[in-house]
Amino acid sequence: MHDIIRQLDEKRAAARLGGGKKRIEAQHAKGKLTARERIELLLDPESFEEWDMFKEHRCTDFGMEKQTVPGDGVVTGYGTINGRLVFIFSQDFTVFGGALSEAHAEKICKVMDHAMKAGAPVIGLNDSGGARIQEGVASLGGYADVFQRNVLASGVVPQISMIMGPCAGGAVYSPAMTDFIFMVKDSSYMFVTGPEVVKTVTHEEVTAEELGGAVTHNTKSGVADLAFENDVEALMMLRRLVSFLPSNNRDKPPVVPTEDPSERIEMSLDTLVPDNPNKPYDIKELIVKTVDEGDFFELQPDYAKNIVIGFGRMAGQTVGIVANQPLVLAGCLDIKSSIKGARFVRFCDAFNIPVVTFVDVPGFMPGTAQEYGGIIKHGAKLLYAYAECTVPKVTVITRKAYGGAYDVMSSKHLRGDVNFAWPSAEIAVMGPKGAVEIIFREEKGDPAKLAAREQEYKEKFANPFVAGHRGFIDDVIMPHETRRRICRSLAMLKEKKLENPWRKHGNIPL
Ligand code: HXC
Repeated sequence: MHDIIRQLDEKRAAARLGGGKKRIEAQHAKGKLTARERIELLLDPESFEEWDMFKEHRCTDFGMEKQTVPGDGVVTGYGTINGRLVFIFSQDFTVFGGALSEAHAEKICKVMDHAMKAGAPVIGLNDSGGARIQEGVASLGGYADVFQRNVLASGVVPQISMIMGPCAGGAVYSPAMTDFIFMVKDSSYMFVTGPEVVKTVTHEEVTAEELGGAVTHNTKSGVADLAFENDVEALMMLRRLVSFLPSNNRDKPPVVPTEDPSERIEMSLDTLVPDNPNKPYDIKELIVKTVDEGDFFELQPDYAKNIVIGFGRMAGQTVGIVANQPLVLAGCLDIKSSIKGARFVRFCDAFNIPVVTFVDVPGFMPGTAQEYGGIIKHGAKLLYAYAECTVPKVTVITRKAYGGAYDVMSSKHLRGDVNFAWPSAEIAVMGPKGAVEIIFREEKGDPAKLAAREQEYKEKFANPFVAGHRGFIDDVIMPHETRRRICRSLAMLKEKKLENPWRKHGNIPL
């Protein structure tokens, strides 16, 4: 018996060594942790239960039968984060560069299947050279098996991808179908084809970092949600993200008790909006002063900055926050911000997270670049997302809510549950200047007359009361009481029930 136990110990030790000491050192030299070190940091101490430690590939081509490593380049299993169950796979770059074989894919599929049955998030720590080249189509099949599960799990359990090394070829499409993609600066990259192929096909010279590094995907493409300085920071922030999320689509998000009173008044908000309607201000100040303890977990902070999205808590309950940002493009909705907002609203809706929307939007961005780029279709994504959303929706219009953008931003007409406006709100078809230039076109030659018309329009429409008369606004509130009014509304909406008509699925404009 002792011998058998010793053999097991030896087998485990061999598996833990992955691709061997030299390759582990090389991994460390690149500033990267190993697959197991990452799991240890991410999960609660001693909580990891590993599966398939002894699984090996079955490839016999290119001398592969002589090159087997127990575990086959991915560490899989489950554990807890702050005591809550999560399933995990962590690719081991020291074993065939973390490349995905048929057996490697089977391990990932096993944890995904269990995650769906158990109703718990799936976290993928990706560090892989893509399809295992020696296996050919078997590994492509393995990828497709993972993709299929990504789609079936979408909207059922949260799926989070952490990119911690290369992620090339079709390998990017599994993360692309998950809910969140985080990247580590200087050591991770994602692209469909690498710099060499790009050079051959398009004659562009580009480095891997420029093509698909963390900065690129967090600022230019919008593929990633956050970028971190190193593995440790990334894993700590992943723990933080999980703390906001429910475990599955039938669960409510966890409630985190807070010392911050839900009735808290914030007098400084009374002077947040400048007197001059064309002067910008930082909407994040409102967000931070409204949520519990100023704790706002922003997503995509460096992409489409004209809209701000992220998680916070109100009276301990997770909320998704969407806010126009007057500091950037005056808060206009354009293609990128519409897509950014829409995807976030849909995530919140899928996972029972109430949506709080702060509105200061002068409209959709005009111009040929936007029209040729399909703003009609992409702007409609945000409209569609808000309109199909059945979770509690609380909206606060701080200043401008013009035109179609008024309708889109969680208006009463799109089943906004509670819609507030600050006294500074201007709810109208368009800004006063543009409006009088159209209605009183014949008076264009008379600036004094036009200015008087503008003033008249302003007094008539640049306020929240016209919408209030119609019940499109439930109340005009003092800025300083915003937190307590939202908290009360969310408490009132706690057991909200609303269902859309039965259908196979809607057809969101893609
Ligand atoms: C098998 C691989 C591998 C792969 C790397 N290795 N990628 N083995 N299949 N795809 C092995 C290397 O042979 C090496 O083995 C070890 O992993 C580390 O690789 P290095 O090249 O030494 O590391 P580095 O210089 O850091 O470069 C990493 C890399 C590079 C950028 C990922 O290895 C690379 O370009 N690999 C190929 C990427 C690729 O083209 N993948 C296929 C994409 S197509 P030793 O024994 O020396 O340690 C695809 C299709 C999927 O994925 C389609 C799904 C729909």
